[in-house]
Amino acid sequence: MARIVLGVSSSIAIYKACEIIRQLQKKNHSVQVIMTQKASQFISPLLFQALTGNPVLINLFETKETEKIEHIELARKTELLLIAPATANFIAKMASGIADDFLSTFYLAVNCPVIVAPAMNEAMYLHPRTQANLQELRRQGVIICEPERGLLACGDEGWGRLAEVEKIIALAESLLTSSFKWRNKKIIITAGPTREPIDPVRFISNRSSGKMGYELAREASRRGAEVILISGPVNLPSPYGVKVIRIETAAEMKKEVEKYFDEADVVIMAAAVADFRPAEAMTSKWKKNQGIPEIKLVATEDILDFLATHPLRKKKILVGFAAETQELEDAAREKMEKKGLDLIVANDVSIPGIGFEADLNDVLILDRQGQVIRSGVKSKREISQLIFDVLEAYLEKAT
Ligand code: PMT
Repeated sequence: MARIVLGVSSSIAIYKACEIIRQLQKKNHSVQVIMTQKASQFISPLLFQALTGNPVLINLFETKETEKIEHIELARKTELLLIAPATANFIAKMASGIADDFLSTFYLAVNCPVIVAPAMNEAMYLHPRTQANLQELRRQGVIICEPERGLLACGDEGWGRLAEVEKIIALAESLLTSSFKWRNKKIIITAGPTREPIDPVRFISNRSSGKMGYELAREASRRGAEVILISGPVNLPSPYGVKVIRIETAAEMKKEVEKYFDEADVVIMAAAVADFRPAEAMTSKWKKNQGIPEIKLVATEDILDFLATHPLRKKKILVGFAAETQELEDAAREKMEKKGLDLIVANDVSIPGIGFEADLNDVLILDRQGQVIRSGVKSKREISQLIFDVLEAYLEKAT
């Protein structure tokens, strides 16, 4: 049983929302409806209220202060947001982050899986703007329940018919099942670079922005896991619902990973941990007139190597990343073996537009049984979804 919010916008397919509610209830889920203003002119909110037993939420700005707090609570508790039917206009609002009514605001506030089931006239659905908006939603991690071809409300035959209710329910169930699998699971994710001090103002670091690790943390949290994100210095907001621990050096990162390792089920090392550090950090700033300093470097301790030999290693799943510039697959496989990992995610960091700093990535996911999954170029959010799908299948096999 899950707490589902059904978002309803003003498509003629709105009447199917009643069947969606009934089918979700049959599966013992509780349903709360949020309607757009225009949708409430198509169908009386009273109908949804009677079906769900919950007052229908429509207008954010007419809501009393005390109720607003409850609605924030609702965003926190929601386990799935299903928007069906979703009009071209509502999809456009979601894609661009417009939050001018209850439902569009709610979309921005939730931290759970989101499904959008579009329903509209074929010309609107196939319009490049709508297709670009749907692509943007996919990039944001939203699952699109693709519409079907058939007789449309306008009398035309074509694409844009709301997907069959059974298909929408099956998709909702599979997402919920996946998020149930992560409940009570604890995941350590590392992200960003480390900084190894030379003196109080200078350091050795790398180009990692933390985007990959932060998206993984967001995805893990969305799937219901408890996430500890151990992050080097980055310029990113903390993902909602995630415990963020900020560190600077490789040694500090290792200390924090070690601290939480006992309680963790999975560790994902997406951080670009420095391999070398100055043997000694100077205590005062090295001045230019002192000449060019000679900096002796020493190796940092490898965190994954340390975890590989930990007494609790066998009870955990270890996922490493491999940042390579040539022979991606072979180099990654070698790293997976050497570090005793369960899975490794390899990216070629020499290709412009992916890897370090970029919003996109293109990865190979390798496991110890020889399976290789290629993501193709995708947003780091979509790549994170793929990594978690693979990890989920791995967890299933392992238990
Ligand atoms: O942060 P972004 O800008 O989004 O970029 C993402 C990324 C390119 C940093 C990310 O996708 C990535 O590849 N992360 C791993 C970078 C890295 O350090 O790779 P590596 O091949 O040098 O190390 C292999 C593995 O050992 C990594 O999981 C690393 O976290 C781990 N390691 C490395 C050094 C060390 N001292 N301890 C470690 O545990």
